[in-house]
Amino acid sequence: MFKSIEWRDEEGVLRLLDQTRLPEDVVTVDLADEHAICAAIREMKVRGAPAIGVAAAYGMVAAARRSGAETLLDLKAELAEAEALLRGSRPTAVNLFWALDRMARVVAAASDIDALKPALLTEARAIEAEDIAVNRAISRHAMKVVPQKATIFHHCNTGSLATVDLGTALGVIRTAHESGREVFAYVDETRPRLQGAKLSAWELLQYGVPHAVIVDGAAAHVMRTKGADLAVVGCDRVAANGDTANKIGTYSLALAAKDNDVPFYVCAPTSTIDLATSSGDDIAIEDRDEREITHMGGVEVAAAGAGVYNPAFDITPARLITGIITEYGIAEPPFQQSLARIFADNARG
Ligand code: MRU
Repeated sequence: MFKSIEWRDEEGVLRLLDQTRLPEDVVTVDLADEHAICAAIREMKVRGAPAIGVAAAYGMVAAARRSGAETLLDLKAELAEAEALLRGSRPTAVNLFWALDRMARVVAAASDIDALKPALLTEARAIEAEDIAVNRAISRHAMKVVPQKATIFHHCNTGSLATVDLGTALGVIRTAHESGREVFAYVDETRPRLQGAKLSAWELLQYGVPHAVIVDGAAAHVMRTKGADLAVVGCDRVAANGDTANKIGTYSLALAAKDNDVPFYVCAPTSTIDLATSSGDDIAIEDRDEREITHMGGVEVAAAGAGVYNPAFDITPARLITGIITEYGIAEPPFQQSLARIFADNARG
């Protein structure tokens, strides 16, 4: 099996499985400072909301490790710059900001230069370890809504590659399979970056989960003609009212599920739930390079000079979501109340 993300303390580098090279090449890259880690997040060598958060946390560790600052004040100033750089890497996944907020609190609390570097490493390791535990808890709760024989629709990649270990929605599919359920997964290819065809299918092949990759536009048709028991997706940010930002195409899948009476679940670690954002209208959606649409594998596929619009995420309105599966249980509509209750009962940083 593979490791998506690994801090190698002796070398002081973050080792990432380069997701832009999969599935053809299984290669890692070692990143020694916050600039290289920021670039890797932006270029999607590491991607998926939880993995981005963990990578950014180690970006702060790497910045501290490389710093030659001799006073606490100078080190804090350098770390503030590193934090600002990492914050600018991608805008939609709230885990990035959540993880950096945690690291910034460690910086703010430090009163001793020698203690600050190990404290940052401890916090990054805690964020990493929590992600593993949270993913397992999500899968455990999800088993309540996965029948013994289950046809499941999935969008983008939400597996081990997008997190530290098990994954969220793909982790649910894997756990259902490994717990003896008869699972078949329909995997949206997920244009334009093909996270479904390249990454989710690559993972499912390793886990032995029966599946079929379909083009995004086929989901409604396949649901109607082949049937489905549920759709399960990840998320990059859930607003207080339950509106959910996730990879472009998620909204269309939710509409298809609604029209076919298929339950639609979002897997959301509480680190991806942003109660400070009231609705999906307030979530920043990343626009990416038009070449992601006009070119495939370096070959131009669109008419030369065609106009392009490339939003990387969309907002699925809360009304289309059956349940939001968190590490503390499944929140049901109305989400304004159920999500607030989860936070009130389980305060987290
Ligand atoms: O642009 P990406 O590949 O980072 O987008 C990833 C997604 O949209 C995932 O579904 C989401 O981050 C959840 S990963 C557990």
